[in-house]
Amino acid sequence: MLRYCKFSFNPGFRQPAFLLAFLLGGYFFSCSAPKAASEPMPLNPNGDSELALLMRAMTGEAQVVKQQIEQGEAPWLGLDYEKILTAQASVPEKAASAAYQEHARSYLQTVKALREGDVANARPLYNNMVNACMSCHTALCPGPTVRIKQLY
Ligand code: HEC
Repeated sequence: MLRYCKFSFNPGFRQPAFLLAFLLGGYFFSCSAPKAASEPMPLNPNGDSELALLMRAMTGEAQVVKQQIEQGEAPWLGLDYEKILTAQASVPEKAASAAYQEHARSYLQTVKALREGDVANARPLYNNMVNACMSCHTALCPGPTVRIKQLY
């Protein structure tokens, strides 16, 4: 009995599971792979880029904004969204491409429209913003699209 317990807590058995969880975390959150729905965001094994952290904050804020709109409140977007143009990405070439910069600018337009728009139009303006997330991701980084679809 004692031996059994000792074995079940042997770090040699636990470590592979831990590593696997890390690897799967990287798999689900990377650009190239679909991501499991509604999981807490795990740490990227290579460290989180500035852009990845911004994206997570954007996802969190979009969730809050969606609720505000559903409750008839004025949406409040407090993040520094302009950082999307300069934040360091885990694959820097990707965020430096003309296509990325173009998508980023259209996205910023939709954020501006939502910030400045009427509460009465908030829902369609919000949808335009999520559409802009989707179009950049569909073109350049399809992994998180599963997560983004939940923002509609
Ligand atoms: C201009 C292109 C672009 C736009 C617009 C964009 N993203 Fe991203 N997103 C990226 C790129 C590129 C990455 C990969 C970042 C990295 O790994 O450094 C990313 C990563 C992510 C991730 C994964 C973050 C992580 O944990 O690694 C999520 C979630 C995400 N974006 C959600 C969103 C949401 C929600 C929006 C809109 C509110 C949005 N994105 C708008 C390009 C974009």
